[in-house]
Amino acid sequence: MTKQLLLGQTLSFSGNPLTDKWEDVTHFNSAGGVLIDGNRIGATGDGATLRRDHPDAEITDYGDALIIAGFVDAHMHYPQTGIIASWGKQLIDWLNTYTFPEEARFGDRAYADEVANRTIDLALAHGTTTLTSFCTIHPESVDAFFAAAAARNMAVVAGKTCMDRNAPENLRDSAQSAYDDSKALLNKWHGQGRATYAITPRFSPTSTPDQLSALGALWAENPTCLMQTHLSEQRPEIHWVKELYPDAKDYVDTYEAHGLLGERGLYGHAIHLEPREIDRLRETGGAVIHCPTSNTFIGSGLFDLMALAKAGLNIGLATDTGGGSSFSMLRTMAAAYEIGQLRGAALHPAQLMWLATEGSAQTLHMSGEIGHLGTGAMADITVLELSSTPAIAQRQAKADDIWDALFPTIMMGDDRAVRDVWVAGKVLFAG
Ligand code: GUN
Ligand code: ZN
Repeated sequence: MTKQLLLGQTLSFSGNPLTDKWEDVTHFNSAGGVLIDGNRIGATGDGATLRRDHPDAEITDYGDALIIAGFVDAHMHYPQTGIIASWGKQLIDWLNTYTFPEEARFGDRAYADEVANRTIDLALAHGTTTLTSFCTIHPESVDAFFAAAAARNMAVVAGKTCMDRNAPENLRDSAQSAYDDSKALLNKWHGQGRATYAITPRFSPTSTPDQLSALGALWAENPTCLMQTHLSEQRPEIHWVKELYPDAKDYVDTYEAHGLLGERGLYGHAIHLEPREIDRLRETGGAVIHCPTSNTFIGSGLFDLMALAKAGLNIGLATDTGGGSSFSMLRTMAAAYEIGQLRGAALHPAQLMWLATEGSAQTLHMSGEIGHLGTGAMADITVLELSSTPAIAQRQAKADDIWDALFPTIMMGDDRAVRDVWVAGKVLFAG
């Protein structure tokens, strides 16, 4: 198979710029190259050197566009694509008013197929090459999503959302059926091609203790699966959890007591954590997923990213579509920056870019495979134009280094900044 050589500016990471000095772990090459060999990255380095060493490679010259690893969205809900940007509600009302009626439609396989394909194409157009999605309680919704991703050879994480209380009747399963359906789905999809199954209790309020225990048992039986849920997003939700689980020490304990706290656990939001909860998350290695556009849109609160990074937690970044208000990981980085400012920490562009690629990949236990512009990684690559609108271009023209040139695109960019998107060595979106 012909090798492909992409030329342009390149940005990659060899460590975590939240915990290490960002200058030490960030690698920028203004005349870089990425060699694609089949579906993987065969080499990265100096563009001219790669060109000399691989004279037969087919060349795509991106000029001064920036070649990065494809964005990794570590928490979203593809069934909520159709209700993104719905007005005026906070979490529980928002779920009841907008989310549950829409999710009820996903027992219809044709509808689920249509939204799954639409969502994945929107994500690709925004430079995102991996989605981590909640589905609905319907097994059809899980089949639809994994099938749409498989057709594009995309790495995705997904699972059937389980709820056996505090949800409309047509969106409730039971402890037993949640276990049985999830087991059948993970046996069908987990490890097939690039699919990873995540056992998915929606959150403690919509599961009985019996259901949480059943899903904890399923996870223990299938420890290579991920587990995704929500944690400590809004104050009224946390009070509700206290009422529903009077014996629990705190919100994290509602999961831990049922076998749902662990290394491969993904806990969305995690805004209002108690010190004990932070300790347990660190000790068990579970990851918290920051969803900044959602946190401001639904009015949840200000995630304390730097404090949690310093406390030693693994942190990923995500859109939380459709509680989140954008499909774009650029918009998501901008919101993370703004929330950081309100928390007294200015996140560096290197830290933001790391979170959107390597950081999220690490929470999914896929480091080195996705979110990584380096030899051996899958060739999931996004190419960004750094002057995609007149407003961005006039600011970028004044820049004197890559960070000053990139930051306007992080703060003001969107899908217009996305030039090409490669998935497993093929161009799936050409901007
Ligand atoms: N908590 C439980 N379900 C949801 C959801 O669908 N979106 C958000 N943002 N929070 C949740
Ligand atoms: Zn969510």
